Amino acid sequence: MDKFVIDGGRPLSGTVRASGAKNAVLPAMAACLLAQGRSVLRNVPNVMDVRTMRRLLIRLGCRVDFEGNIMSIEVPAKLRCQAEYEIVKQMRASYYVLGPLLARFGRAKVSLPGGCAIGARPIDLHLRGMEALGAKIEIVHGYVSARARELKGARILLSGSKGPSVGATINVMMAATLAKGETVIESAALEPEVVATAQLLRAMGAEIEGAGTPVISIQGIAELHPAEQTMIPDRIETGSLLVAAAISGGCVTVEDCCPEHLSAAIEQLRRAGARVAAGDGMVTVEARRKLKPMDITVAPYPGFPTDLQPQFMALAALSSGISAITETIFENRFLHVSELQRLGADIKLEGNTAVIRGVPKLTGAPVMGSDLRASAALVIAGLAAEGRTEVNRIYHLDRGYERWERKLKKLGAKVRRVHQPMAL
Ligand code: EPZ
Repeated sequence: MDKFVIDGGRPLSGTVRASGAKNAVLPAMAACLLAQGRSVLRNVPNVMDVRTMRRLLIRLGCRVDFEGNIMSIEVPAKLRCQAEYEIVKQMRASYYVLGPLLARFGRAKVSLPGGCAIGARPIDLHLRGMEALGAKIEIVHGYVSARARELKGARILLSGSKGPSVGATINVMMAATLAKGETVIESAALEPEVVATAQLLRAMGAEIEGAGTPVISIQGIAELHPAEQTMIPDRIETGSLLVAAAISGGCVTVEDCCPEHLSAAIEQLRRAGARVAAGDGMVTVEARRKLKPMDITVAPYPGFPTDLQPQFMALAALSSGISAITETIFENRFLHVSELQRLGADIKLEGNTAVIRGVPKLTGAPVMGSDLRASAALVIAGLAAEGRTEVNRIYHLDRGYERWERKLKKLGAKVRRVHQPMAL
Protein backbone atom coordinates (compact mmCIF):
# COMPACT_ATOMS: atom_id res chain seq x y z
CA MET A 1 0.00 0.00 0.00
CA ASP A 2 1.47 3.33 -1.03
CA LYS A 3 1.33 6.63 0.75
CA PHE A 4 2.15 10.20 -0.21
CA VAL A 5 4.62 12.13 1.88
CA ILE A 6 4.14 15.85 1.42
CA ASP A 7 6.25 18.69 2.77
CA GLY A 8 3.77 21.52 2.64
CA GLY A 9 3.98 25.25 2.36
CA ARG A 10 5.24 25.76 -1.19
CA PRO A 11 3.14 27.88 -3.53
CA LEU A 12 2.43 25.91 -6.73
CA SER A 13 3.24 27.52 -10.03
CA GLY A 14 3.42 26.54 -13.67
CA THR A 15 1.35 24.69 -16.21
CA VAL A 16 -0.09 21.21 -16.12
CA ARG A 17 -2.31 19.16 -18.42
CA ALA A 18 -5.69 17.73 -17.44
CA SER A 19 -6.10 14.02 -18.08
CA GLY A 20 -9.09 12.44 -19.79
CA ALA A 21 -12.20 12.08 -17.65
CA LYS A 22 -12.34 8.83 -15.73
CA ASN A 23 -16.11 9.10 -15.36
CA ALA A 24 -16.53 9.47 -19.12
CA VAL A 25 -14.14 6.65 -20.00
CA LEU A 26 -15.82 4.01 -17.83
CA PRO A 27 -19.21 4.22 -19.62
CA ALA A 28 -17.43 4.66 -22.97
CA MET A 29 -15.63 1.35 -22.47
CA ALA A 30 -18.95 -0.33 -21.65
CA ALA A 31 -20.63 1.31 -24.65
CA CYS A 32 -18.08 -0.34 -26.94
CA LEU A 33 -19.67 -3.70 -26.00
CA LEU A 34 -22.72 -2.68 -28.02
CA ALA A 35 -20.93 -3.30 -31.33
CA GLN A 36 -18.87 -6.16 -32.64
CA GLY A 37 -15.45 -5.05 -33.89
CA ARG A 38 -12.65 -2.72 -32.85
CA SER A 39 -13.39 0.59 -31.19
CA VAL A 40 -10.67 3.03 -30.21
CA LEU A 41 -10.77 5.48 -27.32
CA ARG A 42 -8.20 8.26 -27.05
CA ASN A 43 -7.11 10.44 -24.13
CA VAL A 44 -7.88 7.58 -21.73
CA PRO A 45 -6.36 8.20 -18.28
CA ASN A 46 -4.22 5.38 -16.97
CA VAL A 47 -5.91 5.16 -13.57
CA MET A 48 -6.88 2.19 -11.48
CA ASP A 49 -10.64 2.30 -12.21
CA VAL A 50 -9.93 2.27 -15.93
CA ARG A 51 -7.60 -0.70 -15.48
CA THR A 52 -10.29 -2.47 -13.46
CA MET A 53 -12.84 -1.87 -16.23
CA ARG A 54 -10.30 -3.17 -18.73
CA ARG A 55 -10.00 -6.38 -16.70
CA LEU A 56 -13.77 -6.71 -16.67
CA LEU A 57 -14.00 -6.31 -20.46
CA ILE A 58 -11.26 -8.91 -20.90
CA ARG A 59 -13.18 -11.29 -18.61
CA LEU A 60 -16.24 -10.77 -20.77
CA GLY A 61 -14.20 -11.88 -23.77
CA CYS A 62 -12.84 -8.67 -25.33
CA ARG A 63 -9.28 -7.97 -26.31
CA VAL A 64 -8.26 -4.65 -24.81
CA ASP A 65 -4.92 -3.02 -25.66
CA PHE A 66 -4.02 0.03 -23.65
CA GLU A 67 -0.90 2.03 -24.35
CA GLY A 68 -0.03 5.70 -24.21
CA ASN A 69 -3.58 6.76 -23.27
CA ILE A 70 -5.03 5.03 -26.32
CA MET A 71 -7.29 2.08 -25.74
CA SER A 72 -8.31 -0.31 -28.44
CA ILE A 73 -11.23 -2.60 -27.63
CA GLU A 74 -11.86 -5.59 -29.88
CA VAL A 75 -15.35 -6.91 -29.16
CA PRO A 76 -16.10 -10.42 -30.46
CA ALA A 77 -19.45 -11.69 -31.75
CA LYS A 78 -20.15 -13.48 -28.49
CA LEU A 79 -19.40 -12.36 -24.94
CA ARG A 80 -19.72 -13.81 -21.48
CA CYS A 81 -22.60 -11.89 -19.97
CA GLN A 82 -21.51 -11.87 -16.34
CA ALA A 83 -19.71 -9.31 -14.17
CA GLU A 84 -18.51 -11.04 -11.02
CA TYR A 85 -18.53 -9.71 -7.47
CA GLU A 86 -14.76 -9.88 -7.36
CA ILE A 87 -14.53 -7.04 -9.88
CA VAL A 88 -17.74 -5.14 -9.10
CA LYS A 89 -16.80 -4.85 -5.41
CA GLN A 90 -13.65 -3.02 -6.52
CA MET A 91 -15.51 -0.63 -8.75
CA ARG A 92 -19.21 0.13 -8.72
CA ALA A 93 -19.13 1.54 -12.24
CA SER A 94 -18.85 -2.09 -13.44
CA TYR A 95 -22.67 -1.85 -13.53
CA TYR A 96 -22.26 0.01 -16.82
CA VAL A 97 -21.95 -3.34 -18.61
CA LEU A 98 -25.54 -4.22 -17.63
CA GLY A 99 -27.27 -2.06 -20.27
CA PRO A 100 -25.02 -2.96 -23.22
CA LEU A 101 -24.97 -6.72 -22.50
CA LEU A 102 -28.72 -6.84 -21.99
CA ALA A 103 -29.35 -4.86 -25.17
CA ARG A 104 -27.03 -6.93 -27.33
CA PHE A 105 -27.48 -10.43 -25.94
CA GLY A 106 -30.82 -10.30 -24.12
CA ARG A 107 -29.25 -11.23 -20.81
CA ALA A 108 -26.79 -9.94 -18.24
CA LYS A 109 -25.78 -10.97 -14.78
CA VAL A 110 -24.03 -8.30 -12.73
CA SER A 111 -23.09 -8.51 -9.09
CA LEU A 112 -24.83 -5.97 -6.86
CA PRO A 113 -22.17 -3.44 -5.89
CA GLY A 114 -22.94 -3.39 -2.16
CA GLY A 115 -22.03 -0.57 0.20
CA CYS A 116 -19.76 2.36 -0.49
CA ALA A 117 -17.80 4.68 1.81
CA ILE A 118 -19.67 7.80 0.65
CA GLY A 119 -23.25 6.56 0.93
CA ALA A 120 -25.76 3.79 0.29
CA ARG A 121 -25.72 4.26 -3.48
CA PRO A 122 -28.59 2.03 -4.57
CA ILE A 123 -29.03 1.05 -8.23
CA ASP A 124 -32.83 0.92 -8.22
CA LEU A 125 -33.09 3.54 -10.98
CA HIS A 126 -30.86 1.50 -13.29
CA LEU A 127 -33.08 -1.53 -12.69
CA ARG A 128 -36.29 0.45 -13.01
CA GLY A 129 -35.06 1.69 -16.38
CA MET A 130 -34.20 -1.79 -17.64
CA GLU A 131 -37.59 -3.09 -16.47
CA ALA A 132 -39.34 -0.27 -18.29
CA LEU A 133 -37.53 -1.44 -21.44
CA GLY A 134 -39.06 -4.88 -20.88
CA ALA A 135 -36.34 -6.71 -18.96
CA LYS A 136 -37.21 -9.20 -16.28
CA ILE A 137 -35.02 -8.50 -13.27
CA GLU A 138 -34.25 -10.87 -10.44
CA ILE A 139 -31.86 -10.52 -7.55
CA VAL A 140 -30.33 -13.91 -6.84
CA HIS A 141 -27.29 -14.75 -4.70
CA GLY A 142 -26.17 -11.13 -4.73
CA TYR A 143 -26.44 -10.79 -8.48
CA VAL A 144 -28.81 -8.79 -10.64
CA SER A 145 -30.00 -11.09 -13.34
CA ALA A 146 -31.66 -9.31 -16.26
CA ARG A 147 -33.30 -11.00 -19.22
CA ALA A 148 -35.33 -9.84 -22.17
CA ARG A 149 -36.21 -11.53 -25.45
CA GLU A 150 -36.33 -8.07 -26.94
CA LEU A 151 -36.02 -4.62 -25.38
CA LYS A 152 -38.83 -2.26 -26.30
CA GLY A 153 -38.65 1.52 -26.23
CA ALA A 154 -40.54 3.22 -23.39
CA ARG A 155 -41.06 6.51 -21.56
CA ILE A 156 -38.96 6.37 -18.41
CA LEU A 157 -38.78 8.82 -15.54
CA LEU A 158 -35.30 8.45 -14.09
CA SER A 159 -35.41 10.72 -11.09
CA GLY A 160 -34.83 9.45 -7.57
CA SER A 161 -35.15 11.08 -4.16
CA LYS A 162 -31.73 12.76 -4.69
CA GLY A 163 -32.54 13.96 -8.20
CA PRO A 164 -31.36 12.59 -11.53
CA SER A 165 -28.83 9.77 -11.72
CA VAL A 166 -25.77 10.00 -13.95
CA GLY A 167 -25.20 6.25 -13.97
CA ALA A 168 -28.83 5.26 -14.57
CA THR A 169 -29.25 7.82 -17.37
CA ILE A 170 -26.18 6.46 -19.15
CA ASN A 171 -27.01 2.80 -18.57
CA VAL A 172 -30.57 3.12 -19.82
CA MET A 173 -29.48 5.29 -22.75
CA MET A 174 -26.98 2.62 -23.79
CA ALA A 175 -29.57 -0.17 -23.53
CA ALA A 176 -32.16 1.84 -25.46
CA THR A 177 -29.90 2.26 -28.50
CA LEU A 178 -30.72 -1.33 -29.54
CA ALA A 179 -34.32 -1.45 -28.25
CA LYS A 180 -37.25 -1.62 -30.64
CA GLY A 181 -38.84 1.79 -31.12
CA GLU A 182 -38.42 5.04 -29.26
CA THR A 183 -37.27 5.54 -25.67
CA VAL A 184 -37.72 8.82 -23.90
CA ILE A 185 -35.76 9.37 -20.69
CA GLU A 186 -37.28 12.09 -18.54
CA SER A 187 -35.44 13.79 -15.68
CA ALA A 188 -32.19 12.71 -17.28
CA ALA A 189 -28.90 13.75 -15.71
CA LEU A 190 -27.23 16.69 -17.48
CA GLU A 191 -23.59 15.91 -16.67
CA PRO A 192 -20.96 16.28 -19.42
CA GLU A 193 -20.24 12.54 -19.07
CA VAL A 194 -23.80 11.81 -20.25
CA VAL A 195 -23.27 14.05 -23.29
CA ALA A 196 -19.89 12.45 -24.00
CA THR A 197 -21.39 8.95 -23.88
CA ALA A 198 -24.20 10.03 -26.21
CA GLN A 199 -21.58 11.39 -28.62
CA LEU A 200 -19.76 8.07 -28.69
CA LEU A 201 -23.03 6.17 -29.16
CA ARG A 202 -23.94 8.47 -32.02
CA ALA A 203 -20.54 7.85 -33.58
CA MET A 204 -21.45 4.15 -33.33
CA GLY A 205 -24.62 4.84 -35.31
CA ALA A 206 -27.13 5.34 -32.48
CA GLU A 207 -29.95 7.82 -32.89
CA ILE A 208 -30.00 9.99 -29.79
CA GLU A 209 -31.28 13.49 -29.22
CA GLY A 210 -31.39 15.73 -26.20
CA ALA A 211 -28.33 14.51 -24.24
CA GLY A 212 -27.39 17.35 -21.90
CA THR A 213 -31.07 18.28 -21.42
CA PRO A 214 -33.58 16.69 -19.02
CA VAL A 215 -35.28 14.80 -21.86
CA ILE A 216 -33.27 12.38 -23.99
CA SER A 217 -34.91 10.51 -26.84
CA ILE A 218 -33.40 7.44 -28.42
CA GLN A 219 -34.64 5.78 -31.55
CA GLY A 220 -33.60 2.16 -31.30
CA ILE A 221 -31.83 0.55 -34.27
CA ALA A 222 -30.89 -3.05 -35.10
CA GLU A 223 -27.12 -2.81 -34.89
CA LEU A 224 -24.33 -0.42 -33.96
CA HIS A 225 -20.83 -0.32 -35.40
CA PRO A 226 -17.47 0.32 -33.71
CA ALA A 227 -16.16 3.88 -33.51
CA GLU A 228 -13.25 6.06 -32.45
CA GLN A 229 -13.66 8.77 -29.84
CA THR A 230 -11.47 11.15 -27.85
CA MET A 231 -12.38 11.36 -24.17
CA ILE A 232 -13.36 14.72 -22.67
CA PRO A 233 -11.01 16.28 -20.09
CA ASP A 234 -11.55 15.39 -16.45
CA ARG A 235 -13.45 18.31 -14.91
CA ILE A 236 -12.98 17.01 -11.37
CA GLU A 237 -9.24 16.57 -11.77
CA THR A 238 -9.08 20.07 -13.26
CA GLY A 239 -11.06 21.48 -10.33
CA SER A 240 -8.83 19.62 -7.87
CA LEU A 241 -5.72 21.14 -9.47
CA LEU A 242 -7.25 24.63 -9.27
CA VAL A 243 -7.98 24.15 -5.59
CA ALA A 244 -4.44 22.82 -5.01
CA ALA A 245 -3.07 25.97 -6.63
CA ALA A 246 -5.39 28.24 -4.67
CA ILE A 247 -4.73 26.67 -1.27
CA SER A 248 -0.97 26.89 -1.82
CA GLY A 249 -1.21 30.61 -2.61
CA GLY A 250 0.19 30.03 -6.07
CA CYS A 251 -0.59 30.54 -9.74
CA VAL A 252 -1.29 27.55 -11.98
CA THR A 253 -2.58 27.05 -15.50
CA VAL A 254 -4.41 23.84 -16.37
CA GLU A 255 -4.25 23.08 -20.08
CA ASP A 256 -6.30 20.72 -22.24
CA CYS A 257 -9.25 21.14 -19.92
CA CYS A 258 -12.80 22.29 -20.40
CA PRO A 259 -13.55 25.31 -18.16
CA GLU A 260 -17.21 25.36 -19.33
CA HIS A 261 -17.70 22.09 -17.44
CA LEU A 262 -16.53 23.75 -14.23
CA SER A 263 -18.53 26.97 -14.13
CA ALA A 264 -19.94 26.45 -10.63
CA ALA A 265 -16.53 25.68 -9.10
CA ILE A 266 -14.82 28.56 -10.92
CA GLU A 267 -17.57 30.89 -9.72
CA GLN A 268 -16.92 29.81 -6.11
CA LEU A 269 -13.18 30.40 -6.48
CA ARG A 270 -13.83 33.88 -7.89
CA ARG A 271 -16.29 34.75 -5.14
CA ALA A 272 -13.72 33.65 -2.58
CA GLY A 273 -11.29 36.16 -4.10
CA ALA A 274 -9.11 34.02 -6.36
CA ARG A 275 -8.33 35.38 -9.82
CA VAL A 276 -9.47 32.91 -12.43
CA ALA A 277 -8.94 33.39 -16.15
CA ALA A 278 -10.69 30.82 -18.30
CA GLY A 279 -9.90 30.57 -21.99
CA ASP A 280 -10.18 28.07 -24.81
CA GLY A 281 -9.25 24.74 -23.26
CA MET A 282 -7.32 26.32 -20.43
CA VAL A 283 -7.84 27.94 -17.06
CA THR A 284 -5.48 29.86 -14.80
CA VAL A 285 -6.00 30.43 -11.11
CA GLU A 286 -4.04 32.80 -8.94
CA ALA A 287 -4.61 33.22 -5.22
CA ARG A 288 -1.83 35.12 -3.51
CA ARG A 289 -3.89 36.14 -0.48
CA LYS A 290 -6.08 34.30 2.01
CA LEU A 291 -9.45 33.50 0.47
CA LYS A 292 -12.83 34.67 1.75
CA PRO A 293 -15.25 32.16 3.26
CA MET A 294 -17.53 30.17 1.00
CA ASP A 295 -21.15 29.07 1.06
CA ILE A 296 -21.55 26.01 -1.11
CA THR A 297 -24.46 23.65 -1.66
CA VAL A 298 -23.74 20.62 -3.77
CA ALA A 299 -26.15 19.97 -6.65
CA PRO A 300 -26.37 17.91 -9.83
CA TYR A 301 -24.75 19.47 -12.91
CA PRO A 302 -24.55 22.35 -13.71
CA GLY A 303 -24.57 22.90 -9.94
CA PHE A 304 -21.54 22.56 -7.70
CA PRO A 305 -20.23 18.95 -8.04
CA THR A 306 -20.25 16.62 -5.05
CA ASP A 307 -16.93 15.29 -6.39
CA LEU A 308 -15.27 18.64 -5.52
CA GLN A 309 -16.90 19.07 -2.12
CA PRO A 310 -14.04 17.55 -0.05
CA GLN A 311 -11.35 19.54 -1.92
CA PHE A 312 -13.22 22.82 -1.39
CA MET A 313 -13.60 21.94 2.27
CA ALA A 314 -9.82 21.78 2.56
CA LEU A 315 -9.67 25.22 0.93
CA ALA A 316 -12.34 26.61 3.25
CA ALA A 317 -10.36 25.34 6.24
CA LEU A 318 -7.73 27.98 5.50
CA SER A 319 -10.05 30.81 4.47
CA SER A 320 -10.52 33.98 6.50
CA GLY A 321 -13.93 33.33 8.05
CA ILE A 322 -16.78 30.86 8.47
CA SER A 323 -17.76 28.76 5.47
CA ALA A 324 -20.71 26.40 5.06
CA ILE A 325 -20.69 23.41 2.73
CA THR A 326 -23.88 21.39 2.32
CA GLU A 327 -23.76 17.93 0.77
CA THR A 328 -27.05 16.88 -0.82
CA ILE A 329 -26.13 13.87 -2.94
CA PHE A 330 -24.17 11.37 -0.83
CA GLU A 331 -25.17 11.21 2.83
CA ASN A 332 -21.81 9.93 4.07
CA ARG A 333 -19.49 12.10 2.09
CA PHE A 334 -17.88 13.65 5.14
CA LEU A 335 -15.27 11.05 6.05
CA HIS A 336 -12.53 13.57 5.21
CA VAL A 337 -13.77 15.87 8.00
CA SER A 338 -12.10 14.01 10.85
CA GLU A 339 -8.89 13.67 8.83
CA LEU A 340 -8.85 17.40 8.02
CA GLN A 341 -9.35 17.98 11.75
CA ARG A 342 -6.15 16.02 12.37
CA LEU A 343 -4.41 18.67 10.30
CA GLY A 344 -5.89 21.38 12.49
CA ALA A 345 -9.04 22.28 10.56
CA ASP A 346 -11.97 23.61 12.59
CA ILE A 347 -15.03 21.85 11.15
CA LYS A 348 -18.36 21.05 12.76
CA LEU A 349 -20.99 18.90 11.18
CA GLU A 350 -24.60 20.01 11.50
CA GLY A 351 -26.65 17.39 9.68
CA ASN A 352 -25.52 17.45 6.08
CA THR A 353 -23.83 20.83 6.45
CA ALA A 354 -20.21 21.28 7.42
CA VAL A 355 -19.47 24.56 9.13
CA ILE A 356 -15.83 25.42 8.63
CA ARG A 357 -14.15 28.12 10.65
CA GLY A 358 -11.01 29.20 8.83
CA VAL A 359 -7.80 28.74 10.81
CA PRO A 360 -4.53 30.66 10.32
CA LYS A 361 -2.64 27.48 9.49
CA LEU A 362 -2.85 23.71 9.14
CA THR A 363 -0.08 21.53 10.50
CA GLY A 364 1.14 18.31 8.90
CA ALA A 365 0.16 14.92 10.34
CA PRO A 366 -0.41 11.36 9.18
CA VAL A 367 -3.91 11.02 7.72
CA MET A 368 -5.85 8.39 5.83
CA GLY A 369 -7.85 8.58 2.62
CA SER A 370 -11.30 6.99 2.82
CA ASP A 371 -12.34 7.42 -0.80
CA LEU A 372 -11.15 8.97 -4.02
CA ARG A 373 -12.11 12.61 -3.53
CA ALA A 374 -11.44 12.58 0.21
CA SER A 375 -7.89 11.49 -0.59
CA ALA A 376 -7.53 14.34 -3.06
CA ALA A 377 -8.71 16.76 -0.36
CA LEU A 378 -6.11 15.45 2.07
CA VAL A 379 -3.31 15.75 -0.47
CA ILE A 380 -4.45 19.30 -1.20
CA ALA A 381 -4.57 20.16 2.50
CA GLY A 382 -1.11 18.63 2.92
CA LEU A 383 0.27 20.97 0.25
CA ALA A 384 -0.67 23.93 2.43
CA ALA A 385 0.00 22.44 5.85
CA GLU A 386 3.09 23.41 7.77
CA GLY A 387 5.56 20.54 7.97
CA ARG A 388 5.05 16.97 6.82
CA THR A 389 1.77 15.28 5.97
CA GLU A 390 1.51 11.60 5.17
CA VAL A 391 -1.56 10.57 3.24
CA ASN A 392 -2.03 6.85 3.72
CA ARG A 393 -4.10 4.51 1.54
CA ILE A 394 -3.27 6.54 -1.53
CA TYR A 395 -4.71 3.74 -3.68
CA HIS A 396 -8.00 5.59 -3.35
CA LEU A 397 -6.43 8.55 -5.16
CA ASP A 398 -4.89 6.23 -7.74
CA ARG A 399 -8.39 5.13 -8.76
CA GLY A 400 -9.03 8.41 -10.47
CA TYR A 401 -6.01 10.74 -10.57
CA GLU A 402 -3.41 10.01 -13.21
CA ARG A 403 0.22 10.41 -12.13
CA TRP A 404 -0.78 13.02 -9.57
CA GLU A 405 2.47 13.13 -7.68
CA ARG A 406 4.26 13.86 -10.97
CA LYS A 407 1.83 16.62 -11.86
CA LEU A 408 2.12 18.21 -8.43
CA LYS A 409 5.90 17.92 -8.47
CA LYS A 410 5.98 19.64 -11.85
CA LEU A 411 4.16 22.53 -10.19
CA GLY A 412 6.78 22.73 -7.45
CA ALA A 413 5.17 20.65 -4.71
CA LYS A 414 7.37 18.53 -2.52
CA VAL A 415 5.55 15.23 -2.65
CA ARG A 416 6.76 11.69 -2.98
CA ARG A 417 5.18 8.27 -3.12
CA VAL A 418 6.40 5.77 -0.58
CA HIS A 419 5.66 2.09 -0.91
CA GLN A 420 4.53 0.62 2.40
CA PRO A 421 4.79 -3.11 2.86
CA MET A 422 1.53 -4.62 4.16
CA ALA A 423 1.56 -5.12 7.93
CA LEU A 424 1.22 -8.75 8.97
C1 EPZ B 1 -21.47 9.28 -10.70
O1 EPZ B 1 -21.88 8.28 -9.80
C2 EPZ B 1 -19.98 9.42 -10.51
N1 EPZ B 1 -19.36 8.13 -10.78
C3 EPZ B 1 -19.67 9.87 -9.09
O2 EPZ B 1 -18.27 10.08 -9.01
C4 EPZ B 1 -20.39 11.18 -8.82
O3 EPZ B 1 -20.18 11.55 -7.48
C5 EPZ B 1 -21.89 11.00 -9.07
O4 EPZ B 1 -22.10 10.53 -10.42
C6 EPZ B 1 -22.68 12.30 -8.90
O5 EPZ B 1 -22.17 13.26 -9.76
C7 EPZ B 1 -19.12 7.76 -12.03
O6 EPZ B 1 -19.41 8.47 -12.98
C8 EPZ B 1 -18.44 6.45 -12.25
P1 EPZ B 1 -25.70 9.06 -9.45
P2 EPZ B 1 -23.33 7.64 -9.93
O7 EPZ B 1 -26.39 7.85 -9.93
O8 EPZ B 1 -23.70 7.58 -11.37
C9 EPZ B 1 -28.89 8.17 -6.03
C10 EPZ B 1 -16.14 9.85 -8.13
O9 EPZ B 1 -15.60 10.23 -7.07
N2 EPZ B 1 -29.26 7.00 -6.84
O10 EPZ B 1 -25.82 10.31 -10.26
O11 EPZ B 1 -23.33 6.38 -9.16
C11 EPZ B 1 -27.48 8.07 -5.49
O12 EPZ B 1 -27.43 7.30 -4.30
C12 EPZ B 1 -17.52 9.26 -8.10
O13 EPZ B 1 -15.59 9.91 -9.23
C13 EPZ B 1 -30.37 6.28 -6.48
O14 EPZ B 1 -31.05 6.58 -5.49
O15 EPZ B 1 -24.18 8.72 -9.19
C14 EPZ B 1 -27.13 9.51 -5.30
O16 EPZ B 1 -27.68 9.99 -4.10
C15 EPZ B 1 -18.07 9.12 -6.72
N3 EPZ B 1 -30.69 5.18 -7.22
C16 EPZ B 1 -27.84 10.21 -6.46
O17 EPZ B 1 -28.86 9.29 -6.88
C17 EPZ B 1 -29.97 4.81 -8.32
O18 EPZ B 1 -30.33 3.81 -8.97
C18 EPZ B 1 -26.94 10.52 -7.65
O19 EPZ B 1 -26.18 9.37 -7.97
C19 EPZ B 1 -28.86 5.57 -8.67
C20 EPZ B 1 -28.52 6.67 -7.92
